[in-house]
Amino acid sequence: EKGGYEHFMLKEINEQPRSIADCMRGRLDAQNGRLVLGGLRDYMNKFQNADRIIITACGTSWHAGLVAEYLFEEFARIPVEVEYASEFRYRNPVLSDKDFIIAISQSGETADTLAAIELAKSKGATIFGVCNVVGSSIPRTTHAGSYTHAGPEIGVASTKAFTAQISVLTMMALKLGYKRGTLPENRYMQLLSELETIPSKVERALKMNDKIHEIAKEYKDARNFLYLGRGYNFPVALEGALKLKEISYIHAEGYPAAEMKHGPIALIDEEMPVVFIATKDSSYEKVVSNIQEVKARKGKIIAVVTEGDTVVKNMADHVIEIPATEEAFVPLISVIPLQQLSYHIAVMRGCNVDQPRNLAKSVTVE
Ligand code: F6R
Repeated sequence: EKGGYEHFMLKEINEQPRSIADCMRGRLDAQNGRLVLGGLRDYMNKFQNADRIIITACGTSWHAGLVAEYLFEEFARIPVEVEYASEFRYRNPVLSDKDFIIAISQSGETADTLAAIELAKSKGATIFGVCNVVGSSIPRTTHAGSYTHAGPEIGVASTKAFTAQISVLTMMALKLGYKRGTLPENRYMQLLSELETIPSKVERALKMNDKIHEIAKEYKDARNFLYLGRGYNFPVALEGALKLKEISYIHAEGYPAAEMKHGPIALIDEEMPVVFIATKDSSYEKVVSNIQEVKARKGKIIAVVTEGDTVVKNMADHVIEIPATEEAFVPLISVIPLQQLSYHIAVMRGCNVDQPRNLAKSVTVE
């Protein structure tokens, strides 16, 4: 049932070209400029006219929510808040019927996320679910929703569910932007076409596997890791660090790269591997200066870059190249090498990759 793979996690990482395509199937038809999310149809009006979008989730799903914050604000110009469900539910948050809540959950059973939904519902907000497990509790309590259709995810560390969540949220943001007129038609059409190429670009990104395996050998005994990115790649840095902690038990922190100088820079010495997500996008130059700052302090630099990059290649100890895409779609590709890196390190350390200690696939207690 692992389809010839040694672990479910590796199988699920490698399934992503297909799971992302499955998520978009029947929804996205770029050639005809069509993007249909069935679950959204009856609530499009509420969504379009919302004062605020509040995204609530836990863990990896919360990271997908952070990516969505950038997407919704860029394309639809509606203010977004991303809330840990466990904090949101106990804060007596200010909510009204003009709020559109998006609850993201792979399992659809996370206790804190469910409780956050109940609370928001009681205040009159509209709740939209983005879940993977069909018929689970969250899709049953929300007003509407879209399934991620990633197929069963067995590995405790979420991989293909994360990219499917981002795929759904990306489609939602594009649709909303188009409907609201904040995303002009020609740009919308361009973005739809590019979105269709993502599965094949993920396929190409996966080919860095052997190189990442080599990098993993070199750093498997590190005690700490830093992950840094800006913009759309900031949530990816958080996700990369979470993947490493949960399956390899190496301490890792993700930060927005610019925050480094406000504290974490004190940690950098020749023993500290720093993973930069330094793709060619609007914050590229800034990330390059952050890389120089780490290099000056002798940190070891592993950089995820856009294919053909030469600047970072000359500075970093290791580069992992991924295909270029629209800035807003980069997380779908840049997270892939980080999943592979954590996987290989965990295997080399003899960890139980599919069932890490102390973790459960479905967190049904708060
Ligand atoms: C990390 C991971 C967890 C979950 C979190 C929320 O790899 O799997 O952080 O993302 O427990 O779970 P769901 O998405 O099922 O609500």
